Amino acid sequence: MLNKKMITDVDVQGKKVLARVDFNVPIKDGKVTDDTRIRAALPTIEYLLDHGAAVILFSHLGRPKDGPDPLYSMRPTADHLAVLLGKPVAFAEEAIGPVATAAAQALQPGGVLVLENTRFYKGETKNDLELARQWAALADLYVNDAFGSAHRAHSSTQGVAQFLPAVAGFLMEKEIQYLGQAIADPKRPFVAILGGAKVSDKIGVIRNLLQKADQVLIGGGMANTFFKAQGYAMGDSLVEEEAVELARELLQLGGSRLQLPADVVIADRFDAGAEVRTMNVGSTPDGWRILDIGPKTVQAFSKIIESAGCVVWNGPMGVFELAPFAAGTFGVAQAVANSKAVSIVGGGDSVAAINQSGLADKITHISTGGGASLEMLEGLTLPGVAALLDK
Ligand code: 3PG
Repeated sequence: MLNKKMITDVDVQGKKVLARVDFNVPIKDGKVTDDTRIRAALPTIEYLLDHGAAVILFSHLGRPKDGPDPLYSMRPTADHLAVLLGKPVAFAEEAIGPVATAAAQALQPGGVLVLENTRFYKGETKNDLELARQWAALADLYVNDAFGSAHRAHSSTQGVAQFLPAVAGFLMEKEIQYLGQAIADPKRPFVAILGGAKVSDKIGVIRNLLQKADQVLIGGGMANTFFKAQGYAMGDSLVEEEAVELARELLQLGGSRLQLPADVVIADRFDAGAEVRTMNVGSTPDGWRILDIGPKTVQAFSKIIESAGCVVWNGPMGVFELAPFAAGTFGVAQAVANSKAVSIVGGGDSVAAINQSGLADKITHISTGGGASLEMLEGLTLPGVAALLDK
C-alpha cells in the first residue's frame, strides 16, 4: 500500500539514523500524561536498535512562539522513553549546533539520543533548507515515523529528506495502510461518521467522503450549521453563519448519503447543571442550545454502523466533556466498537472518547494523527510521505 522505502529495505547496521517521530504529547509538571504517541513509535525505535543503529530522535512539541521555552522542552519525552525502553536515553539541549553534533558523534550503535524541540528554531515551520541540512549532517539515514506531523511541510518532516536517504518507519506504514485503504478500496458499506464543532474545518473531508462513502453521518456542533441551512431557527445553538451556504451545497451533493441527526439534546445554558430536554429536530426554542445528538439518532446511527464493512470516525457527537451531553458520543463509540466492520478512529476527541469508554481494543486502528488523518481522508498527499524514497 505504501509505495515508499521502509526501514526494512535499507541496511541500518552501524549507521547513525535520524528518526523524526511525533512526540507532540501532553505534558504536565514535567511529566508525560498520555504516552500513546511515544508507544506508537516503539516498534521503529526498537527495530533500529536491534539492528545495530545509533538512533537520534527528533520531534516538535506544541507551538512555541519565540525560540526555546522550557515549557516545550522534549526532555520529559526522553525521560519517559527511557522508562519504556528500559535503558538510558541521552538528551541534547540543542537540536542543531555543537551540542547536538557532539551528542550525535558520541552515540554508539544501540544507543538512543533525543534532540530538543525542532520548533525552537524559526526555520523549522518555514521548511528552511539550511536548517534541514544541519539536521541531515548529524546522520547517515533519515527515517520518518511521525505520521501525526506528515501533513506539515517543515524542515524536519520534508526538507531533511532532500539531504539523506529517506525511508518510512512502521507507524507511518501502518497509518497509511489503514487510512489509505479506507479511502481507496474500503469494505462496503463504507460509513463515515463526522463530528466536532465546525463544518469549515472539515469541508474537504466531507466533500471527499460524500463521493467515497455509502453513508456520511454528521453529528456534533457542525450539524447545527446544516440545520440552519435547512431553514430551522437555532436559538442559542452554535452556528457557523459563514458556512451555511456551503452546508446547503453539501446537502445537495450528499442527498440521501448524508445523514443528519433526527433528534437532539438541548439545554438552557452551556453547563453540566443546565436544564436539559430532548427534542426532534426542528426549531430550537429561544434561549436554548443544541449540545448533543438524541437517543433516536444514536439508535439510527448505530444501526447503520452495525451493518457497515468499514467505519471511519472523526469528531465527537456533542459536548461529551459535560456528562449530560456525553451520551451521543459514547453511544456512537459503543456502536463502532460493537460493529464487525474495519474501524478507524482519528482525532483527539474521538480517540479520547474511545479510551474513556475502555473500548480501544475493539477498534481496528486508532490513528495517532489529528490533522494528518483528516488530510488523508480528504484524499490529499502528505508532504512528509511524498518526500520519502519510492520503493
Ligand atoms: C498534531 O498534534 O496534530 C501534530 O503533532 C501536529 O501538530 P501541529 O498541528 O502543531 O503542527
